[in-house]
Amino acid sequence: MGEGIGFGKSILFGEHFVVYGLPALAAGISSKTVAYVSRSKSRGWTVDDRRLEVPGYKAKKKDEQVVSINNVLDAAGIDLSDMGIHIEYEGDLVCASGYGASAAICVSLARALDDEFRLGFDDDKINAIAYEGEKGSHGTPSGIDNTASTFGGLVWFVRDLTGGPPKFETLKLKDAANLTIAATGLTASTTEVVGDVRAKKESDSKWFDRLANKYHELVTDARESLLKFDLVRVGEFMNQNHSLLQELTVSCSELDEMVDIALENGALGAKMTGTGRGGNMMALSPDVDTQKQIADALEKGGSPFVYNTTFGL
Ligand code: MEV
Repeated sequence: MGEGIGFGKSILFGEHFVVYGLPALAAGISSKTVAYVSRSKSRGWTVDDRRLEVPGYKAKKKDEQVVSINNVLDAAGIDLSDMGIHIEYEGDLVCASGYGASAAICVSLARALDDEFRLGFDDDKINAIAYEGEKGSHGTPSGIDNTASTFGGLVWFVRDLTGGPPKFETLKLKDAANLTIAATGLTASTTEVVGDVRAKKESDSKWFDRLANKYHELVTDARESLLKFDLVRVGEFMNQNHSLLQELTVSCSELDEMVDIALENGALGAKMTGTGRGGNMMALSPDVDTQKQIADALEKGGSPFVYNTTFGL
């Protein structure tokens, strides 16, 4: 049986803007999806998906998952016209929009296929295959999710708009930063939300360019502050990034309320993360006690899943 893992991720800066070639920062989280691939007698593939989920996630993403699996198989060069495989998914990464769950199924599957069929893929190849898989759930993925899911760590990512491979580097901070990630419980379609932003951009390019320029300045400064480990400034940039995402119309009242709860409970900064219109928010804490207080407040506020983690080392 072949086995492979894909990390979860959380976008610290740059969701949506990254689709248009602006830099973004993603933090890999330690939770992961594990895929197992075994040979079966019937042709084609079957799947047993035992991942934990926020209610309704898997049903909503079922069709996209089928396209993702087929794309990964094609990109890995696995032809199932004369053989069969059984895929199993499990792991401690909870399926909720915003954790990179769709990328993690592609990365873990690519690795499990590599393991089962002895394909000799390196991480760059796994990442490229997973990118094809991501087209099932993103339509036009930037590639940040599969890159963070493949490599883990804190990733500075820039998409190549001419279709070439993305530029990315892994950043190391002076210390670990405390992050709380909380789910709204609402599942959005990344293809739909990215499509809406694209339509708005095309109908009013001046509006989009103004937001994109502000974002570009912000992420450049945020990177510098992260490297100096000036978390107070990083928090301010997270708040500003959230405001830009509100203007981009990808936040929603549930996310905004959770951001407010986190800030009222001592967060240095908070923002939605990922696709938006549901999914997750994240909050940066100055210390573990505040992190705990924020997580408790978000749970009391009704979040169905709250997760404390660190990033940067
Ligand atoms: C989704 O996790 C992030 C988006 O920026 C889409 C993408 O980068 O492909 C919304």
